[in-house]
Amino acid sequence: MEKKFRKIGVLTSGGDAPGMNAAVRAVTRAALSRGVEVMGIIGGYRGLIHDEMINLKARNVSNIINRGGTFLYSDRCLEFKTEEGMQRAIEVCKKHEIDGIVAIGGDGTFRGATDLSVRGIPTIGIPGTIDNDITATETTIGFDTAMNTVLQMVDRLRDTCESHARCNVVEVMGRGAGDIALNTAMALGAVAVVIPEVAFDEEACMAKIRRLREDGKRSFLVIVSEGVEKFAPGLAKRIEEQTGVETKYACLAHVVRGGDPTLADRVLATKLGVAAVDQLLAGKSNLVLCQNNSQVVAVDILYSQCLDRYYKGTLKDGMLEKFSADEKAAMEKVIAEKKEEFRKYYAMVNDLAQ
Ligand code: F6P
Repeated sequence: MEKKFRKIGVLTSGGDAPGMNAAVRAVTRAALSRGVEVMGIIGGYRGLIHDEMINLKARNVSNIINRGGTFLYSDRCLEFKTEEGMQRAIEVCKKHEIDGIVAIGGDGTFRGATDLSVRGIPTIGIPGTIDNDITATETTIGFDTAMNTVLQMVDRLRDTCESHARCNVVEVMGRGAGDIALNTAMALGAVAVVIPEVAFDEEACMAKIRRLREDGKRSFLVIVSEGVEKFAPGLAKRIEEQTGVETKYACLAHVVRGGDPTLADRVLATKLGVAAVDQLLAGKSNLVLCQNNSQVVAVDILYSQCLDRYYKGTLKDGMLEKFSADEKAAMEKVIAEKKEEFRKYYAMVNDLAQ
């Protein structure tokens, strides 16, 4: 089986994430060391359609393990969702004799990976997104760095809040997912957190701020996930009106997505990059690599997508029926555990120091 793979492609797609470069490096070096050529596809699936790629040598991936962003560039490519775009991508793969692809990104990237797989191009996905919203894996590449960036930024806001006896409401990224907000709120000792997964008790938040202010507390931090849309600015206004504590609003936006990857993200990216090459060369396809209980595991992409949709309540008709009773039970266990964890940590942040 190994002989078949003479050349593979690697791409980064969707929102960039710190650690993507480390993953590309690992894929490239693992493949080269097994005698397989590597094409770096520029700008995600768009580069595949428009035949933009470079032959990666070891020197091209030297000194990128420590750099944020993605040196292959990224894109959210709508053209790839059309049959015409897909067919052009397949033609380009054939032209370059690309035997398989490693696609690094989030759920949109994995949909593209499945489309390629079913059309005969073996593809392995690696979860690279700051949002940590791939339910099949405990952690995605970029998540740890993003959380550490939030800590650094909000600790600065804390300094000025303390000096001026203010509250700061801070919105952090996470499309429909409160993972970044919840974990950073805990690590920052925030007075409250607002996430899409658990209903926010605003009255309790106001009462807590009033009580703590009476007790002499000067500064307050409230972390809001962008997944609770258009909520943070209004909340800041209401906190000021209802508690008398002067309140500022800040949105960290894309600041959270940049910067050099942390140790955890570099290690994860390296492990998953090497495993992706191993899976491809072993003849596997349509898998996403996950890290659970410190182990790298390969999960079927369709299973991973169904699990995500089940978790988010966005299942399409007939999707779940493709899986066995055991698989459904396994999904329900993961979902119940994740929901319970969110409830527990939400309560922990919001109830502490009541
Ligand atoms: O998925 C990563 C992410 O940064 C989300 O947190 C955010 O909602 C979205 O991408 C922003 O996308 P864009 O960079 O296209 O504005």
